[in-house]
Amino acid sequence: IRDDANGASAYVANYIIDRINTFHPTAENPFVLGLPTGSSPLGVYKILVEKYKAGLVSFENVITFNMDEYVGIPRDHSESYHTFMWKNFFSHVNIHPSNVHILNGNAPSLEAECVAYEDAIKRAGGIDLFLAGIGEDGHIAFNEPGSSLASRTRVKTLAYDTILANSRFFDNDISKVPRMALTVGVQTVLEAREVVVIILGQRKSLALQKCIEEGVNHMWTLSSLQLHPHPMIVVDEDATAEL
Ligand code: GLP
Repeated sequence: IRDDANGASAYVANYIIDRINTFHPTAENPFVLGLPTGSSPLGVYKILVEKYKAGLVSFENVITFNMDEYVGIPRDHSESYHTFMWKNFFSHVNIHPSNVHILNGNAPSLEAECVAYEDAIKRAGGIDLFLAGIGEDGHIAFNEPGSSLASRTRVKTLAYDTILANSRFFDNDISKVPRMALTVGVQTVLEAREVVVIILGQRKSLALQKCIEEGVNHMWTLSSLQLHPHPMIVVDEDATAEL
């Protein structure tokens, strides 16, 4: 628990940098990082960029896999997760574009796209560290309430609550929010060697309480982390309101 969003973001960013640096990644043995979108990780990306510019970390031998992407909006749409990631992170660091993996929500076969994504993660040697945020309903990636805890990368219909929450990025117009997304599954996240979750603000406090003080429950998919050997949840004081 850190006092505020800045403190939590700095903790997470420094933790990731430490993990990359102690791993000593090379082209033959890269560090594989799973990444989220949303407002919660923005501070983390900002600090990672600052530390990269200060020469304290390199992304030369880092491979990334993003958690999810909307279905049916163009890749260059201002709210696509592709645009989000390049704008807020990738364009500002020395990552090789070929090392960046983001699900293609416009693939001719969405099912084939999901299978290929799981294969690519496997070929990369699995994910070393998955960074995640959560939705107000406790979802991790786009694993909405009711998702199987054994799920893998797939097409998911978004919950009404998520469409409503994300409408703030689409001119507050819920009719503009995509209805479906591609997302890594709960099991895909659980297979990462380490999972770090950043949770900020009071609007996430009920989800945090459900996920860590109650049992493993497919209606609050972050609770699946109780089954993971190396999870870490980093929060600001506001998020702890219901604990
Ligand atoms: C979307 C993403 C999630 C993210 C969530 C929270 O639903 N698919 O991965 O955790 O937004 O977003 P925010 O951090 O803006 O509250």
